[in-house]
Amino acid sequence: MQKKILIIGVGPVGLSTAIGFAHAGHELICYDIDKERIDALKNGIAPFYERDLQYTLSMHADKILFTDNLKEAFQDSNIFFICVGTPIGHNNSVDMTAIWNSIDIIAKNVKHDSTIVIKSTVPIGTNKKVVHYIDKLGLKYKIGVVSNPEFLAQGTSIQDTIKATRIVIGCNTPQLRELMLNIYDKFSGEKIVTTPESAELIKYESNCYLAMRVSFVNDLAHVCDLVGADVTSVLKGVTLDPRIGTRYFEPGLGYGGSCFPKDTICFHNQIQSEYGYEQELIEATIDINSRHVLRLCRKMMDNCGGSIMNKKVSVLGMSFKKDTDDVRNSLAVNIVSYLISNGAIVSVWDLKAMENAKKIFQDSVIYANSLDEAIAASDIIFIATDWNEIVDGPLDRFCNKSVYDGRNCFLNRKEEITFNYYYVGGTISEK
Ligand SMILES: NC(=O)c1ccc[n+]([C@@H]2O[C@H](COP(=O)([O-])OP(=O)(O)OC[C@H]3O[C@@H](n4cnc5c(N)ncnc54)[C@H](O)[C@@H]3O)[C@@H](O)[C@H]2O)c1
Repeated sequence: MQKKILIIGVGPVGLSTAIGFAHAGHELICYDIDKERIDALKNGIAPFYERDLQYTLSMHADKILFTDNLKEAFQDSNIFFICVGTPIGHNNSVDMTAIWNSIDIIAKNVKHDSTIVIKSTVPIGTNKKVVHYIDKLGLKYKIGVVSNPEFLAQGTSIQDTIKATRIVIGCNTPQLRELMLNIYDKFSGEKIVTTPESAELIKYESNCYLAMRVSFVNDLAHVCDLVGADVTSVLKGVTLDPRIGTRYFEPGLGYGGSCFPKDTICFHNQIQSEYGYEQELIEATIDINSRHVLRLCRKMMDNCGGSIMNKKVSVLGMSFKKDTDDVRNSLAVNIVSYLISNGAIVSVWDLKAMENAKKIFQDSVIYANSLDEAIAASDIIFIATDWNEIVDGPLDRFCNKSVYDGRNCFLNRKEEITFNYYYVGGTISEK
């Protein structure tokens, strides 16, 4: 009998995976311990904001059963995709609680010979540990374990899943290889079938490389500022080399979000503590990122004569990037916290993340009802997220303001800038 895919954990990764599989024609079940999340999904409502999510969810709702009931989840399924969170835990190691809880849930409820597919980002060697753990349980069903890391980026996660550039499959038997190639049959991305350890490593190396590019380009912008070079020309001159290229190479506040910060730290920690090797490039990447984020705030402080006490500052953007409402490890949060702790009166605005921002800042900031209201509230504006509404909007709305732009939104509209504009890598003074 043909069995169904069960997705365990429907956060950004689990839900995008589910929609991707439904789009490819699979019928599947999604299980989560978060009842509120499942209730929303049962009613066809996306539980968080992500571009295209609500629309694609509605398109494929008939192929996905959402449940928080274990019996219902396991009745007809025998391929379990684990998509639960793996946050940073004690001593910079990965908190694997949700992974092991998922394995235990599977072990207790499995009803057929099955396959566990680990999609969450996990330390190297996890697949082997899971195989060993399951062997020791002596279950009556045969259970294979595959590593299948996810590479989507929030904000574009649905398209990234459906049109994945590569599908990495880490497994040790021809049967598991065959099964996974079948599941991903309709996906056009190149399939890389390798060992579980290699699959686990591909995920960390990819994220660490991208994080390193972010730190490199931010360092480049800082040097431009120090020596008085024009960051736009320098970047153009550097990136026209096709070996370097422009993608993922734009100065900003640094990397944030729920993945890069923890993946760089946890991977660096694992290789150092288990293999005694210090990955200095990753260490520098982390260090540069942590020193970079508040540079524009310090510039603001200097421009205000060393104190921003009682100054009104509006922060535009709260999510860690545009097209998502996720504020986990958002650098906008670091900015707001810095401003508050230095006595500023802070107004905030975001297109989609206001509710999440309220959970963090409660009554310590003013919540603007619109972008225009946020801009009108203060003489100092800080741009923390590059929502299209900011980037493509009129620039005369910033007339007589001092704008600190952590996303370099207006560098290709320099001739329109008539206000004090401090960006990552330089300054344009009021005309
Ligand atoms: N978010 C990204 O952009 C991204 C991209 C690639 C890879 N990843 C990795 O994918 C994994 C998932 O990321 P995410 O952002 O979707 O995580 P998340 O924490 O936002 O969502 C995880 C979901 O799993 C649920 N859950 C937790 N324990 C559970 C259990 N025992 N049984 C069932 N459900 C459970 C939670 O309620 C939540 O809904 C992480 O390892 C992450 O590093 C994330």
